[in-house]
Amino acid sequence: MGVSRIIEEAIERVRPSAGERRKVQAAVDDVMAKVKDQAKDAPYNLDVMLVGSAAKDTYVFPPDLDVFVLFPPQVPRSELEKRGLGIGRRVLGGEERYAEHPYIHGKLRGFKVDIVPCYAIDDPSELQSAVDRTPFHTDYIISHLKPEQHDQVRLLKQFMKGIGTYSAEAKVQGFSGYLVELLILRYGDFQGVLEASKDWGEGMALSLADGAVRRFASPMTFYDPVDPERNVASALSLQNMALFIRASREFLARPDIRFFFPRPHSVWSRSRASREMGRRGTRLIAVQLARPDLTDDNLYPQARKTLDGMQSTLEAAGFIVLDRCFQVRAGKVDLIMELQTDRLPATVRHLGPPVTSQHSAQFLEKWNEEAVVRPYIENGRWMAIIRRPYSDAKELLSHELHKAGLGSEMKGLEGLRVLSHQQLMKQGPLSSITALLDKTAPWER
Ligand code: UTP
Ligand code: MN
Ligand code: MN
Repeated sequence: MGVSRIIEEAIERVRPSAGERRKVQAAVDDVMAKVKDQAKDAPYNLDVMLVGSAAKDTYVFPPDLDVFVLFPPQVPRSELEKRGLGIGRRVLGGEERYAEHPYIHGKLRGFKVDIVPCYAIDDPSELQSAVDRTPFHTDYIISHLKPEQHDQVRLLKQFMKGIGTYSAEAKVQGFSGYLVELLILRYGDFQGVLEASKDWGEGMALSLADGAVRRFASPMTFYDPVDPERNVASALSLQNMALFIRASREFLARPDIRFFFPRPHSVWSRSRASREMGRRGTRLIAVQLARPDLTDDNLYPQARKTLDGMQSTLEAAGFIVLDRCFQVRAGKVDLIMELQTDRLPATVRHLGPPVTSQHSAQFLEKWNEEAVVRPYIENGRWMAIIRRPYSDAKELLSHELHKAGLGSEMKGLEGLRVLSHQQLMKQGPLSSITALLDKTAPWER
């Protein structure tokens, strides 16, 4: 089937129906009235503004409702947080969330709702908190997006959801809703973005106007049209940028509705996982930790850091890490690595100083006694063969992982369990094993 036929079918599925629009409108009216009602008790004027995709009409149903409470810039930050969160809590009950800025997240009439306090500034260059630009983003999109482009935004969002690159939150490290909207403005429509991506490269920069000069170290830069000092794509990982480029190429070559709506990911059976490991001839090792009580925005960066710490512990001890991943499950975080081998020889070559060096005496003193093969000369330097501190990957991690750089809330290694290859194959979590071994893309499943 041709590209335009598939795009038509996808538009049909992502364009909200009249009934869905009515539900959104009723919930918006309800939440706005409740927030305004709570906001009128303040001793100064508070503006309440619907922002995000429900305000811009760029949502894929069901949207979350993003409601901002705008405080006068003179109000101290502590007062903004206290009153802003108080308003949110009275409207939603809800839970407080804190990434770089606190807000209340809850539910109303079946919709997820964020109530976020920010400062009402006149110009985005005067921003005081990280979210003060958001009302400007909303105004910018509302005034620049053409009527026929709204469905194009929905299409690109759904495509990115399908391939797993949508959302700037730390869990995904993908494209934000605002970035998707800017890409549609930049390239005109959904297909235009996909076609343009074949010329994208790491370190590229895009903008909608001249005047952007600052360089960012990100894989992709999109200068914010309301504030050229900011990169809208700062959260995007190279992995997700590359995955989008690959998916675009493959979709244009072989269009399929599965790019937008992939089949659910099925977990491999134990025998399939064993067969695969037999084929590869490599070994797995896993660390299981208790899931710290953190929001995803805080948990995922810490899990990534802990994964790095696990890898460097293994590599420093001589193991070769071929692949790695982590999975967050109910109450647990699994960290899994594929190793070239999980058992190293009992001994290792240990390189010493040049024979001419003044450090020779020290090296000889230490290793003449302890080495398995006493110091000898190789290419002008001392060499000895010594016993490895750890030759077994599980033993290494059980004893040494706590010394690595780990996520701050995971440093205590609460609930630590190290699973050897055999243990993993016999009783390890198949969802996490599948996540590591299954290299098929979502649209290929
Ligand atoms: P969203 O992530 O909800 O994006 O944030 P969106 O454009 O509405 O897209 P979808 O359809 O829901 O996926 C809406 C705006 O609110 C800001 C974001 O920066 C974004 O511009 N926001 C939202 C915050 O800054 N902080 C929050 O806690 C929530
Ligand atoms: Mn939203
Ligand atoms: Mn939101």
